[in-house]
Amino acid sequence: MTEQTHDRLLIIDFGSQVTQLIARRLRELDVYCEIHPYQNVSSDLIRDMAPKAVILSGGPDSVTREGSPRAPEALFEMGIPILGICYGQQVMMQQLGGLVEGGKISGGGGTAEFGRAFVTPEGQLDLLDDWFANGKEQVWMSHGDHVSRLAPGFEVYGTSPNAPYAITADNTRHFYAVQFHPEVHHTPKGAKLYENFVKLAGFSGDWTMGAYREEAVQRIREQVGDKKVICGLSGGVDSSVAAALIHEAIGDQLTCVFVDHGLLRKDEAQEVVGMFRDHMNLQVIHADEAELFLGELEGQSDPETKRKIIGRLFIDVFQKYANDIEGAAFLAQGTLYPDVIESVSFSGGPSVTIKSHHNVGGLPEKMGLKLVEPLRELFKDEVRALGRELGLPDHFIGRHPFPGPGLAIRCPGEITRAKLDILREADAVYIDQIRKHGLYDEIWQAFCAILPVRTVGVMGDGRTYDYACALRAVTSVDGMTADYYPFTHEFLGETATRIINEVPGINRVTYDITSKPPGTIEWE
Ligand code: XMP
Repeated sequence: MTEQTHDRLLIIDFGSQVTQLIARRLRELDVYCEIHPYQNVSSDLIRDMAPKAVILSGGPDSVTREGSPRAPEALFEMGIPILGICYGQQVMMQQLGGLVEGGKISGGGGTAEFGRAFVTPEGQLDLLDDWFANGKEQVWMSHGDHVSRLAPGFEVYGTSPNAPYAITADNTRHFYAVQFHPEVHHTPKGAKLYENFVKLAGFSGDWTMGAYREEAVQRIREQVGDKKVICGLSGGVDSSVAAALIHEAIGDQLTCVFVDHGLLRKDEAQEVVGMFRDHMNLQVIHADEAELFLGELEGQSDPETKRKIIGRLFIDVFQKYANDIEGAAFLAQGTLYPDVIESVSFSGGPSVTIKSHHNVGGLPEKMGLKLVEPLRELFKDEVRALGRELGLPDHFIGRHPFPGPGLAIRCPGEITRAKLDILREADAVYIDQIRKHGLYDEIWQAFCAILPVRTVGVMGDGRTYDYACALRAVTSVDGMTADYYPFTHEFLGETATRIINEVPGINRVTYDITSKPPGTIEWE
């Protein structure tokens, strides 16, 4: 096994909605951390991971409830710094001999507190170095219960009007407990608390992309040996970075399959294949299967049916090409850390399928392939940083996400080649406008949808009867929620004029101002 050389921090997840943000803040400090749900934190896990410090997250439960989650007792005997946040603070107090009382929410008489609060200092603490700039600091509270008696060894270092124990610590053991959430945006100097915490815990900030790249390359070599790897290249950032990294590790033992379903954007197939095959010298099979996909989609207008057809054909096609690669033993996937966390999350039971997303799920078992997932430890922006490190061009790394079913879900109702051609042209003009106005990087995702309706217009002296299209642009952090982008009227007017003038087949342009929820980002 490759020896892991970097310092590690363990985050024990008690089910807070914002636990992932703790990990983000730490990674920004070049600290490697892992989130594990509290029920999975065994003594074996702790021994294998050998963390240099631990953070106990917030959570929805009440420590006053019998059977509510606890931290492993052994943790407090390890002699390493521990930071408890909100529920984590209360767990710590309760387990170390203090007292927690229920607030209104859990039926007790104490004061629940939600929202902004101001904490003022009480004495000196290394965790709070350079923290209280003006004698007080804004924090975000979200708690029903509260600590009513400190555990032995703890003292108060910060109070707020409703939280006399807002910041407490056992300075000798380096145990710190805060009532608020330093990881959220509404605690403006929260990042500084984490910086102080990892500093006092002795982290050297050794989690850099350069180090990660070397380690990942080594790990891939060890895992794969002299076997062959297949990678489904979609042109998206994740699969592209995974392919580039694996190629660096094992060169021509990697073959990529780019499934072209005929639902790609203008010039997309040539760009992706051209870059990977000609520019980066990867072995890429361009599976041009547009006829197959568009043939089976003919006459289909139900969104879920369309997705299912595409998903099924995608797997069939991928398998067909992959079967021709002799000696393949591994399938590469661009799984990211949020996918890994979600799959074991304390709070994440099976969620409702709003739209069926297609991927190559089930394929590895079916084909007897093992998985190579070199991005499993990374967040999306870290994947981008790794891509840059590997020499992928910036404009490629920064591309907006593009869904697996492609233009099919941007062409509500029945798909025809003619409509797809019009859509491709309109989308290209729209994106060109966004780039020309320097807005591309401010927007999370932007695209054009062709509507299943034709409208009357006048152009020159003639009457037109052509398609209407909708422009969509949203800001988002993860695609789970989104806001429409507030373009200026000038921008919208100029873009509409360009599309109508430059794209035959469209005579009306609308702008979609629906947020998510209640809308979704895509139209189907
Ligand atoms: P929605 O439309 O559900 O989209 O708000 C959220 C994000 O997911 C993308 N998306 C997909 N990605 N396969 C994918 O790979 C799919 O079937 C799919 N459907 C939506 C969408 O582009 C947006 O980024």
